[in-house]
Amino acid sequence: MASATTPLVMLLRIALLLLLPLGLWGEREKPKFCGEVTECFTFDLICNSSDYEARLYPPSAWVSTRVNNTYTAAKTTGFWHLFRYIQGRNQLGVKIPMTTPVLTRVDQAAGEMQEYTISFLLPAARQGDPPQPTEPAVFIERFPALPTYVRSFGGWLTDANRGTHIQALDASLGRDARHFNRSWHYSAGYNSPMKLFDRHNEVWRLAWGGLGCAPE
Ligand SMILES: *[C@@H]1O[C@H](CO)[C@@H](O)[C@H](O)[C@H]1NC(C)=O
Ligand SMILES: *[C@@H]1O[C@H](CO)[C@@H](O)[C@H](O)[C@H]1NC(C)=O
Ligand SMILES: *[C@@H]1O[C@H](CO)[C@@H](O)[C@H](O)[C@H]1NC(C)=O
Repeated sequence: MASATTPLVMLLRIALLLLLPLGLWGEREKPKFCGEVTECFTFDLICNSSDYEARLYPPSAWVSTRVNNTYTAAKTTGFWHLFRYIQGRNQLGVKIPMTTPVLTRVDQAAGEMQEYTISFLLPAARQGDPPQPTEPAVFIERFPALPTYVRSFGGWLTDANRGTHIQALDASLGRDARHFNRSWHYSAGYNSPMKLFDRHNEVWRLAWGGLGCAPE
């Protein structure tokens, strides 16, 4: 079918290749809780229920590390591993700007002491070809598009808050008969510890089947 590749088709393909990264990363509005950094993980809002949002995130690349500990201790240890990566412990020796959110993957029902995966979003300029980490515990992770149910809350992202809000999110999704993956959830932090007011945190469930906000 080589004859099908006319110059016009080629041009369209090139245009698509050039436009796609811009469409995914450049054009969406920065969320209003993206205050402390230049770049945040942006999304398309599919719908907004009274107590959760349905968001579609584009495919993305992250730098991650796994830590066995309590939730809070794992987040702190993981943060410093990843912070060293963005400060230059990578194969190019480059500094990489901090983004938000900081994601923590929480596997269900494994107990207080367990393995957590902590992740920093790579900025748009590093999404395509991120420098490899030089610390063995740190790795690059690629996510497909994420259909996500999100519950937001203020204050501090403690294990207790995380637990309360994931239960509330699960109850809302149960009420609306929405389908989601129960094996794990994410907590998402958007603020540095230095910020005292107007803090923003989230818990996420990944949807399967259609994303929606009304009873199915
Ligand atoms: C969804 O609605 C809530 C409460 O009504 C609001 O705080 C939030 O900003 C809305 N989300 C978006 C992305 O507009
Ligand atoms: C955490 O502990 C589990 C169970 O002992 C083990 O399989 C896993 O490799 C550990 N993870 C890390 C990052 O040390
Ligand atoms: C949920 O996550 C588990 C663990 O990775 C996976 O095996 C399963 O296929 C997922 N289920 C759905 C419906 O996505």
